[in-house]
Parts: sequence; structure tokens; C-alpha cells
Amino acid sequence: MCGIIGILGNAPAAPRLVEALRRLEYRGYDSAGVATLEGGQIRRRRAAGKLANLERELAERPLAGSTGIGHTRWATHGAPTTDNAHPHASEKVAIVHNGIIENFRPLREELIRAGHKFASETDSEVIAHLITDYLDKGKPPEDAAIAAVRRLEGAFGIAMLFAGGDDILIGARKGSPLAVGLGDGEMYLGSDAIAVSPFTTRVMFLEEGDIAVLTHNSAKILDAGGQAAERQVHVFAGGAAAVEKGNHRHFMQKEIYEQPETTGRTITRYVNAYDERVEMPDLDGVDLAADSAIIIGCGTAHYAGRVAEYWLEQIAGVPVETDIASEFRYRKPAFGKNSFGVFVSQSGETADTLAALRYCKENKLKTLAVVNVPESTIWREADARLPTLAGPEIGVASTKAFTAQLSALAALAIAVGRARGAIDAKEESRLVRALMETPRLIADALHAEPEIDAIAQELSHARDVLYLGRGAHYPIALEGALKLKEISYIHAEGYAAGELKHGPIALIDEATPVVVVAPHDALFEKTLSNMQEVNARGGRLIVITDAAGAAEVGDIASHIILAPACDPFVAPLVYSAPIQLLAYFTAVHKGTDVDQPRNLAKSVTVE
Ligand code: M6R
Repeated sequence: MCGIIGILGNAPAAPRLVEALRRLEYRGYDSAGVATLEGGQIRRRRAAGKLANLERELAERPLAGSTGIGHTRWATHGAPTTDNAHPHASEKVAIVHNGIIENFRPLREELIRAGHKFASETDSEVIAHLITDYLDKGKPPEDAAIAAVRRLEGAFGIAMLFAGGDDILIGARKGSPLAVGLGDGEMYLGSDAIAVSPFTTRVMFLEEGDIAVLTHNSAKILDAGGQAAERQVHVFAGGAAAVEKGNHRHFMQKEIYEQPETTGRTITRYVNAYDERVEMPDLDGVDLAADSAIIIGCGTAHYAGRVAEYWLEQIAGVPVETDIASEFRYRKPAFGKNSFGVFVSQSGETADTLAALRYCKENKLKTLAVVNVPESTIWREADARLPTLAGPEIGVASTKAFTAQLSALAALAIAVGRARGAIDAKEESRLVRALMETPRLIADALHAEPEIDAIAQELSHARDVLYLGRGAHYPIALEGALKLKEISYIHAEGYAAGELKHGPIALIDEATPVVVVAPHDALFEKTLSNMQEVNARGGRLIVITDAAGAAEVGDIASHIILAPACDPFVAPLVYSAPIQLLAYFTAVHKGTDVDQPRNLAKSVTVE
């Protein structure tokens, strides 16, 4: 994740950009850079490493100008060098970017053929060249920016500065957050409200597909369809921006919508997009070529482990055992001689998971923590760690931490597959490409919000709900049922779709909705048979599937929630978004306390 700031101001920009970047350093500190307009010309200063290096560079070679953009980088494509640091620029435009441009390779090749010279290994640099290309063809800045953004695939937040354009700054958002700060004769862009908080308390959050065209005295927002749009102005007092919900009604909703960003951040931590390979940190003696693995967690973290069990077995051919921490620790589990244990936890403080970790360490098993909170107890006590980069999760019902866990575990499955010789470089590239597309696919899946909201209205009257899934979507069904129970207090159970006929089918009647998680994959036909069994017994089906699946389900479903077509490998990540939204809106319609449901605690530090 990277930090973005833009200032269209009336005072020297460089020190103000640095001040904002200091607040954004938590988003990344591999390199930092700023660009300002000096007499209408773009001037840049960049430095590898922490912000202090950029400050030194600016002290030696100051930048004038009152309009500029700045960036703190968390490296994804290309090493953390000065050349790869943002802003990336031509003579006509400078940009800073947060996110992943998925189609950067074909765009780069096209632009090189058109005579553009690239100076970095980043995906981001194509944005500057693409905009320049449209400017060269005579388009004014706003039109050039819109034309370029339309060609970008992936997830991004971008700020753009134009040579000769003392009264224009443009921002674009798709998948990665971007906020507009409204000043007095000044305007700002920031990757969050904290970035602009030194300058203004009035902030608008851009929505998916928005483009913001700023002048000193105006902020025009164009929505994804190119229509002028209004965005609510939030007023923050003091440091409130840090824990605000932005445009969202609840933290859970905000966190669901952060997932294109948080999965992207986590995936790029473990993936070298340039080489299409997974890169793991030093795992301190954890042997990824081991003969077997165990995965332990509680609640949602356990379900993430259950998905990983399918991945590790299918991709890496390694036998995996998953268990709930509270069961595992008391059953005197036996370990393979050459095995490792994976401990999944958002908080890193869950008492049962911690006890299971300690049990494994006492029994000389190497341990790997997949944890969201740095320096938490599980983080510290494990032999090695794979951080999930979801950021603070406030909603008690876990959402973005779950998909961040899946992201890290998916990368781990590829790494284990390579270590065991189960996949070759070509297959690794294919899997990595699929993983890199996931943030964008999650953003696409979230577009089903209006339909899901309408279905949730109906679901909120149910007393019991069943969730079905097959393969890696069985744990997603379990997670869907858990989410619904937690925040709407509706009784829900997840079942393996094939298990239905062995008992739970007795529950089917017209009052019990059945939610089926069914991408059109190799198991789809089997799940379709189960849907027919439900339909034959008068059950109401709510089917989450893609266009190909929807065509086959036809009218046996009461409702279809459309998800984007995707590689089966990453489908559990993509299908997590609609099941979360379904639970969320059901709770909203019931009027329950979404962020702090009764009886629950965010971190369970007791047995
Ligand atoms: O912090 P952890 O991931 O270890 O927490 C584990 C569970 O308590 C947690 O996932 C719980 O099930 C959530 N409330 C689910 O939304």
C-alpha cells in the first residue's frame, strides 16, 4: 500500500507535501518523492528509503511552487530504488499511484512502440506515459486523464499534476481509496483523510470509478459513467479522521469495501509481479518442502485455514490437517516428523490459538503465524510470520482480515508447491497472475450491492438460513453462515453441498432460504444437482454464481447474485465479498448492532 498527497495551494508546496507524507508513512516507506510546478514546469525530488532521505534531498535541492503531489511507496513492481520511486513523470504530467495496474505490460509495450521511453520497472509509470500520449494528441488535461484512466485495469488511486496547469489537479479512484480535501482557496487529494488533516477538516471520499477535477476554488466529481456527481462532505475535528467511517454507515461496510486495497496490499507483499513469482520472507527454519502441515485458528481465521487446506493439497500436493484451536490443543494431536504448523489470527491474541501454538512449539514443531496485528503475542512467539496487511479491523465481524488471510495463504500454497516441486514456473506464473487480478475482481463483485441489499431485505425475515458450498467454497459457506449469525442473530448453518441429502435436507421448506456459493467451476454440475434437490422440496434458493452459472441455474433460483467470472483458484476470495454484503445488509434491515453485535468481543483472550 502506498500513500498519496496532492496540494493545489497558495503557499510553498514541498514542506506541506512532506508534512502530509509523514502522516502517510504507515502506508509504506520503501521510498518517497514529491513533484511541484516551478514556473509551470514539473520538478521532482525522490529518494529511496525513509522520508528522512527525501527531506535531506529537499534540503540540498529545494523545490519551489505551491502546487504539487507526493508519495510514500510500499514496493510492489520493481525494487525500492530512487528510479522506481514516485512521482513518475514526463515533461507534461507527473503522477503518484497506489494500487496495481494489471494491464501494465501490454500498455507499456504499446507505448514503447509509440516512442515513449520508460525509466522505471514499475507498473505505475505507464499511467504517466498514457496520459502524455493523449496530451500529445491534443487532448486537454481533463480529457487526457479520463481517456487514460478508462484504459487502466486493476485497482488504483492516482493523483495527477500537469505542466503549465497551475490551476488543475486530478484524482482518480478505482479500488484504492482517495479523498478530496476542501480548503479555503486551496484543494487537496489524499489517500485518506489523515493525509489532508494538516490543511483542512472538510473531506469528501471518492467512490468507485470517480474522477475528481480540482481547481483552487472548485472540486468537480465525475462518476464512473462520466456524469457529474455530488459526494458528501465530512467534517473532522482533531484526529477523528483516523477512526472515521468515511462514506460508510458502519465500520464493517467500510472494511468490506476496503478489500480491493487490503487484498492487493497483502498479495503484493508476497508476489513479484514482474517475474510472476511468489517471494516469501525469511521463514526462519520453516521448511516449505515439508511432508505435511497443520493449520490452526478460531472462527473466521479457522475458515481461512480450511480454504488453504484445499489450496495446499491441490497446488502443492501436501497433506494438510486443519483444526479449531480449542479442539486441537486438548486432543493430544500427533505430528508428522517433517511438518510445520500455521496459526491464523487477526488479533494475534486469541487465547486458544496461542495455546495451540505453544503446544506445537513444546513438541518441536516449526510454527508460522499468519497474523494481522504486528507485535501481537502470536506474531512474536511463532518461529516465522506472514503478516496480513488488512490494517486495523474495527468491526467485530471479520471481513477484510479474512480475505487478507486468504491472500497470504494463497501465496503460501504457491510457495509450498514450488518448494515441493509440485508446480513448474509456468504454473506458478499462471497462479500469480490470477492472484494479482483478485483485488479488481473483488471490486467487481462488490458492484452487486443493490441486488444484495434487496435480497437481504427478504432474508432479514427468515428464522433459519442454510448455506451450501463445495470444495474450497464449503468453508466460504461456513463463513457466510457465521457472518449472518454474528451480526443479524439469524440462525444459519453452513454445509458441504453434497452432505445435504444426508440429513440437513429435512430442514428444507419454503420458510428456510438456502444460500448457495457456486462459481461455474469443475464442481458446479454437482452443486446444481443439490440446488435441484432443494427446489424439488419447495426451498427458496439464493445462488451466488457467475454468468455461466446463472445461465444453467435458470429459474430454479429465487434470486441470483452475480459474481465476476474468475480463475477457480481465487474464487474463494472473490465470493467472500457477496456473502459478507448479504450478512451486512440483512443486519442493517433487522436493525441490529452491526459493528458491535451482542455477546461478542473482537479479540477473545480467554479460553
Ligand atoms: O483474532 P482472531 O482472528 O484470532 O479471532 C478469531 C475469531 O475469534 C474471529 O475470527 C471471530 O470468529 C470473528 N468475530 C468472526 O467474524
